[in-house]
Amino acid sequence: MKPNIFIQKLKEYHSSSHKAWEIKNKKNVLKLDWNEPDLYLPEKIKKKLIEFIKKGPTFWYPNVLNKTLIKEISKYLKIPSSYIQYFEGSDAALDYVVRTFIKQKDEVAISSPTYDNFRVYVEAVGAKIKYIFGNDIFKADIENLLKNISNTTKLLYLCNPNNPTGVFYSKEEIEKILKSFPKTLLLVDEAYAEFTQKTVVSLVKKYDNLIVTRSFSKAFGLASFRLGYLVSSPENIFYINKIRNGKNISTIAQIAGIYVLRNKEYFKKYIKEIKKAKKITVENLRKLGFFVIDTPANFILIKTNNASDFCKKLEKQNIFVRDLSYLPFLKDYVRITIWSLNSMKKFIQKIKKNE
Ligand SMILES: Cc1ncc(COP(=O)(O)O)c(C=O)c1O
Repeated sequence: MKPNIFIQKLKEYHSSSHKAWEIKNKKNVLKLDWNEPDLYLPEKIKKKLIEFIKKGPTFWYPNVLNKTLIKEISKYLKIPSSYIQYFEGSDAALDYVVRTFIKQKDEVAISSPTYDNFRVYVEAVGAKIKYIFGNDIFKADIENLLKNISNTTKLLYLCNPNNPTGVFYSKEEIEKILKSFPKTLLLVDEAYAEFTQKTVVSLVKKYDNLIVTRSFSKAFGLASFRLGYLVSSPENIFYINKIRNGKNISTIAQIAGIYVLRNKEYFKKYIKEIKKAKKITVENLRKLGFFVIDTPANFILIKTNNASDFCKKLEKQNIFVRDLSYLPFLKDYVRITIWSLNSMKKFIQKIKKNE
């Protein structure tokens, strides 16, 4: 069977290596390739999850509209519940946004290079992509963005801070886009916002052309559960809800989300440690002569002579980092996720031995 024309033409998202999964003793693995943290859940939360597994009802479909979870997110963001909807990961939220608001031949602008999974959702509906690159891909360039958007641009995807370049746009700059192009839907992907403690969610009350997506996979360490959400006007959420399948967000993901937000201090401590670990890692890599791009999120970039060889060499030592050569302008750049201090000390030692 032939798939539809858009899927025929589509180049799939270049997923992270799954070799790490094949290693038996996962404690020995430094999985620094997909920006997941090395963060075990606190005992309190584990207990809540086990309680559900034991007592159930595990045979019920998940709650399709968990008001407690939405209320916790609402308290966390200081945004009314009616502006919030949760999904099976922020990836799913991005996909739903595209399927709700974009149709074949629409122009979708992507501030690039960026998280490449988004491209797939756009190509799958047959929309036209306009990639916007600044003169310096590692610097925010609001004038360049504004110059490249027009009234025919249906959606602009802006990852903030950007994965993988770390580029960050201020709230004022984002408001400028919203004001200048009220007919363009601005989709701000804030998967890494917990690391910057900066967000534009409050703008959703003022601008109905804004959607912000957030993730529980990064600073909250729930990547295996699949949980994310979006923040936008109740009207936008009403349309997205028409196609959202609430059954897809597992009950344990919902429980974990609630208790993670009720135990924020634990995660704040981890974020502080990541900052320290990042500083030490950057300093050491620079001392070794690497060109390093520091970012406000939980990852950094280094330039290598040959990224494929560099990654293969580390893989043999159970260290997984991400070769970014598949992205424009990032040939031989490698992204390294920052874990806690002890893990990064181990990483630095291994790198020193390899050099
Ligand atoms: C920018 C960005 N958005 C979204 C995601 C996916 O997040 P989630 O696990 O919430 O689907 C990622 C994961 O790497 C990401 O880097």
